[in-house]
Amino acid sequence: MIRSVVRGNGAALPRRIMKNADFEGMVETSDEWIVQRTGIRQRHVAADDETTASLGEAAARAALDSAGMTPADIDLIILATSTPNNTFPATAVEIQNRLGMHHGFAFDMQAVCSGFVYAVATADLYIRGGLAKRVLVIGSETFSRILDWSDRSTCVLFGDGAGALVLEAEEGAGAITDRGVLAASLRSDGAHKDKLFVDGGPSTTGTVGHLRMEGREVFKHAVGMITDVIEATFGEAGITAQDLDWFVPHQANKRIIDASAKKLGIAEEKVVVTVDLHGNTSAASVPLALSVAVADGRIKKGDLVLLEAMGGGFTWGAVLLRW
Ligand code: UT7
Repeated sequence: MIRSVVRGNGAALPRRIMKNADFEGMVETSDEWIVQRTGIRQRHVAADDETTASLGEAAARAALDSAGMTPADIDLIILATSTPNNTFPATAVEIQNRLGMHHGFAFDMQAVCSGFVYAVATADLYIRGGLAKRVLVIGSETFSRILDWSDRSTCVLFGDGAGALVLEAEEGAGAITDRGVLAASLRSDGAHKDKLFVDGGPSTTGTVGHLRMEGREVFKHAVGMITDVIEATFGEAGITAQDLDWFVPHQANKRIIDASAKKLGIAEEKVVVTVDLHGNTSAASVPLALSVAVADGRIKKGDLVLLEAMGGGFTWGAVLLRW
């Protein structure tokens, strides 16, 4: 059976770091409120010359370096983003061009914060279906461009950044001991579309718009949706929480991460938390968290890793893979 095996990973962050205290003169908030309610201490904010394409390119180059590959080795780029450089063409195509790659194909995937999990599951299908052998999966976002900087209930929560993986086809035994993507479950339910959305778009207002969120409503649904989709993934793979080496969740709120891990029975020391460093970077949050845990030596070859995300739509999903 063909498996999609991780060959390399990378990340890129904007130069500027914005601390919680930096908001104190802008909106009525405090470092204490932000840390207590979310776990966020800082986030990176893109300058004018840093875009979803430039950050995505940098993360892709880092992932290729760590895989010992060049763009010539890649036949598909999937970019998860909700903040493309332009309405069209796909920012994935711009990244393809920046990489000097004029073969293969590239497209964007839009599932907001769940985008990277959707993109890994999709890349796995392209690989197993024989349409691609080596895929660059990128999550890159510049949410700072769509924030309403006068709305304290949202502007303190999000940050910019990018992360990437290189996946490659490899023959596996079809067993849980194989390396690569082992199981995935994806969900969406548009009944919740007004709880987290952007109030503009090409076909409605003709503008880009700003992010709007009923935070408490999102919070209320998050833990149940996350744990349901993870349990479905465990069922598909025939494993339990005890078998996991690492849980790498979407980084929106430390309270949601803690409650989900507790409900699933995942030990605290197996949970990768980077929300304090990056804030919520939407589709970039999972690959950014992976890059931190790989760089510091926690995630190693052969480890069983669970990725999870939930966000606007609502969309939610989980991917189980052996690193
Ligand atoms: O990535 C996609 C998924 N998104 C999420 O997972 C976000 C989910 N939601 C959350 O993380 C939380 O709901 C928030 C962090 C957004 C808010 O935390 P909360 O504990 O649900 O607070 P709340 O919305 O119930 O607000 C509590 C109070 C309110 O004041 P009153 O009405 O009690 O007087 C807010 O106006 O906190 C106030 N507030 C703030 N105060 C200081 C809201 N934002 C701020 C702020 N600083 N930045």
